[in-house]
Amino acid sequence: MSRDKAFYLTTPIYYVNDAPHIGHAYTTTAGDVLTRWHRQRGERVWFLTGVDEHGQKVMRTAEANGVAPQEWADRLVESAWLPVLETIDAANDDFIRTTSTRHTERVQGFLQRLKDAGEIYEGTYDGPYCVACEEFKLPGDLVDGEGEHAGQKVCPIHGRPVEQVSETNWFFRLSAYAEPLLRHYEDNPTAVAPLSAYNEVVSFLRGGLQDLSISRSTFDWGIPVPWDPSQVVYVWFDALLNYATAVGLGDEEGTPGAEQFASTWPADVHLVGKDILRFHAVIWPAMLMAAGLPLPGQVFAHGWLLVGGEKMSKTKLTGISPDQIVDHVGSDAFRYYFLRAIQFGSDGSFSWEDMSARYTAELANGLGNLASRAAAMVGKYRDGALPEATAYSDAELTLQSLLAETAATADECVLRLDFAGGIAAVKAFIDAVNLYVTEQEPWALAKDEANAQRLSTVLYTICESLRAIAVLYHPLMPKATASLWEQLGADVALGPIGEQPVQTAGEWGRLPAGARVTKGAILFPRLEDPVE
Ligand code: MSP
Repeated sequence: MSRDKAFYLTTPIYYVNDAPHIGHAYTTTAGDVLTRWHRQRGERVWFLTGVDEHGQKVMRTAEANGVAPQEWADRLVESAWLPVLETIDAANDDFIRTTSTRHTERVQGFLQRLKDAGEIYEGTYDGPYCVACEEFKLPGDLVDGEGEHAGQKVCPIHGRPVEQVSETNWFFRLSAYAEPLLRHYEDNPTAVAPLSAYNEVVSFLRGGLQDLSISRSTFDWGIPVPWDPSQVVYVWFDALLNYATAVGLGDEEGTPGAEQFASTWPADVHLVGKDILRFHAVIWPAMLMAAGLPLPGQVFAHGWLLVGGEKMSKTKLTGISPDQIVDHVGSDAFRYYFLRAIQFGSDGSFSWEDMSARYTAELANGLGNLASRAAAMVGKYRDGALPEATAYSDAELTLQSLLAETAATADECVLRLDFAGGIAAVKAFIDAVNLYVTEQEPWALAKDEANAQRLSTVLYTICESLRAIAVLYHPLMPKATASLWEQLGADVALGPIGEQPVQTAGEWGRLPAGARVTKGAILFPRLEDPVE
């Protein structure tokens, strides 16, 4: 592994059968916060997201809309999947499309290598297939249907009947990898997280694996199998490879692709929803093992956003578009809400009421109010020049040690993807600063010139606390914190906020006295009436 290997994080690539809902935006948001955090730790980062364009699900949607699958995919990418990245303010480094030649050619190269190595053979598949999951199912996976599907066996995730597939296909010797995978997970207990996901994978592997059909012959929307163009590559086999093709998989030594691969692969974290855990923690590492490639550091399975207790989904017409929320509260509050309110790794329900309540209490009143009061007071009492702190009392020293603790806790939490824990720590610090303002009553101190030094110390303490809060919250809320940074005069005094290391955010006294503090735009404006 190259010494300057990037911290490499991926999201799943999303099916382009429809536009994104907040369940999709949730994964990308989490990935964006984590990668921004690593960037602010001074690491080189590579953040990949993209779209999954092949397979029957996309093909059928295109047909139903009377257009060719490629045209449908192009349309959805341009009108929905690229714009949503702007909507949620994601700073991805790359965007992969599985119909791009950089992907299709490398997939074919990979497949050919596995074939040459004896890992692929011809066989017949006869069994159920769920098009919504794009997955071959075992009869035992299915459940009894309800309502219009009563009396039928249906997919447990989509509640819809499966299709019977009977084809001659190419098979991958997946069964050979159950034991090696079990050993890998025994040796690397954090390679799948959280623990519930790890346990699920290990117990699944203990039951043994069947070989996997990796091609389809009854339709042609996919990557042709290089030695048998009458078949297309199974959409998951094609899709999983995106994580490696996007960074140069299989390119000849000395080429830019090979260099990128050496300095990026393996991925440090694959973020996935729990419904696609097995693909990522069983099939994908087996494919890599078969090719002799290093395995990813971790597959992290997050929970579902639920509606009425069920997974939010377009299939069930319960999807809420990210625009609907961002138009109302802004991208920062969108990012804040989902990572704060739902423990990453568990399911959670979205409600407008809960989001509005947290927005008002925690963002508008908690942080926003503190920031505008600080700027107003430095403006009024010190003509906008940040005063120097002279003698610290116990109240300031307590706040300073709480800050050091907060920054350490936030770093430790975010590095293990406990976003809610990291946010709770920073929020507790904000509450402590607000309490400090109430107790110190700078407006009362300002009434008597004899308290001038004390007032300076209090004002400095509030602004320096806000400096640290801005740095620690920047990965989560890039826009509001950039505005706060400017209001504190910190951009001139300390440089761009995105370059402030999170490791030293908790050190006291970084914002120099004399910084120009100005009252800028309100960070979190009062909400208009809810949209629903
Ligand atoms: N194309 C495959 C992934 C291939 S990755 C090599 C796929 N696409 S998807 O569009 O159906 O889903 C992408 C991701 O969105 C999955 O991680 C899935 O868990 C996530 N979500 C879809 N609905 C969701 C919720 N309601 N809640 C949270 N995440 C959800 O699967």
